[in-house]
Amino acid sequence: MAKKLYIETVGCQMNMLDSELVVASLRKQGYELVATPHEADTVLFNTCSVRQHAEDKIYSALGRLKQAKQRHPEKIIGVLGCMAQKDQRLIFERAPYVDLVVGPGQLHQVPTLLAEIAAGSGPRLEVSLERTAGSRAEVEGSFESYDPLRDEQMRPSPFQAFVRIMIGCDKFCTYCIVPTVRGPEQSRPAALIEAEVRQLANEGCREITLLGQTVNSYRHTAGGVTSRLSDLLLRLHSIDGLERIKFVTNYPKDMTDDLLQAVRDLPKCSRYLHVPAQSGSNTVLKRMKRGYTVEDYREMLGRLRATLPDAAVTSDWIVGFCGETDDDFQATVALTREGRFKNSFIFKYSPRPGTKSDDLYLDDVPEAVKRHRNQELLALQTEISEADNQTFLGRQVRILVEGPSKASQKREAAGQPLQLTGRTNCDRIVVFEGQPRQIGQFLDVAVYDANAFTLFGAVVTRAVGPEVYSLAL
Ligand code: 5AD
Ligand code: SF4
Repeated sequence: MAKKLYIETVGCQMNMLDSELVVASLRKQGYELVATPHEADTVLFNTCSVRQHAEDKIYSALGRLKQAKQRHPEKIIGVLGCMAQKDQRLIFERAPYVDLVVGPGQLHQVPTLLAEIAAGSGPRLEVSLERTAGSRAEVEGSFESYDPLRDEQMRPSPFQAFVRIMIGCDKFCTYCIVPTVRGPEQSRPAALIEAEVRQLANEGCREITLLGQTVNSYRHTAGGVTSRLSDLLLRLHSIDGLERIKFVTNYPKDMTDDLLQAVRDLPKCSRYLHVPAQSGSNTVLKRMKRGYTVEDYREMLGRLRATLPDAAVTSDWIVGFCGETDDDFQATVALTREGRFKNSFIFKYSPRPGTKSDDLYLDDVPEAVKRHRNQELLALQTEISEADNQTFLGRQVRILVEGPSKASQKREAAGQPLQLTGRTNCDRIVVFEGQPRQIGQFLDVAVYDANAFTLFGAVVTRAVGPEVYSLAL
């Protein structure tokens, strides 16, 4: 009988990819996915450590399984990913009924470890070396990029895929736990990445998103030839069947001209660039050890806009970082206004044990002030996003249709036609009424309404100009 697996994933796209690959490898071992932890023989959490809140969520989910484990001791409970690497044995102390703790650099071991636990080995812990626990080569070796052969049947979407091009991070921004839990920055060989993308394209994948914590720092040397991200884009661009290439997340200092020009010159590259600024104040940026000034960021944005005038740029911001004054925050507000970002992801500073900022500085901005700054920045960004989206009214955009919209179930219950969602080349979300067969297709859609988050469109059946359109039924 198939073993039943439940997996819950929090965190970034890297974690989503890790979960996809873990599930694929377990399916090969005869597991099937179930929808709740209660039906499952094996419950896995793929975790995030970037903010306290993400960890709290996992510890409370583990707490809720305590009784189930008492009633069914054979149920295997595992914690994977960044929190596993960060907390290690502490997880067994806080939740003694956990059977398995595996860091992100050891995921290839999950199937074997689960089999051993089922055979009575007792609890297992597999994590990578701490960054100072050995030579660079030893630490690198203990963080393995987990990229088993992809399996078509096991991808959440047949026409979209994440592709890892590097792991780890060496930037050591003072607030960030990622360099500790995901290890040293290591780029994967370009030839391997190309082979993976070719396979995905052969299987019908039309859009790929290249992943790296600082994706534009990608650099790999083989046979005396060094590939940068721009070289990789050129290499992937020639793959038949592949139609759209995205990449996240960019590090502002590595936004070089060769990359901007590659995006400009290669039509398959999405005109969407996520380049987190984090703060608009030089004092704060320095304390964050981001390695650039506001002037540097502005210069980068100027070059980006000059090379790619129609690109959508997005940013992350941390509000309430240690010592952030009202003036510092207003400088962030000013850069947000000036940058005209398509959207912004705004986070309240969350001190992470083991990071430099937690060692060196006081978390001295009160929670209420953090919350207020978050709301103020979000309100401004929403205004900008809405004004920006309004410029699409009456225009025709080409989208890749991703599937039913969030509202589609409610709409179906109310007897309304199927609503689908897709994304433009610059990553704007468009919803429209359509047909199931359109999922996975590129379609032209005319935009008739917009709010800060979504464009509303109708499928264009005749190319007679942006204002005249009809629904494809
Ligand atoms: N507190 C709040 N936000 C953080 N981020 C990273 N570390 C922290 C932290 N300690 C944010 C940054 C990063 C995004 C993924 O998460 O903005 O770009
Ligand atoms: Fe964290 Fe900075 Fe690395 Fe991004 S660049 S993962 S914020 S340390």
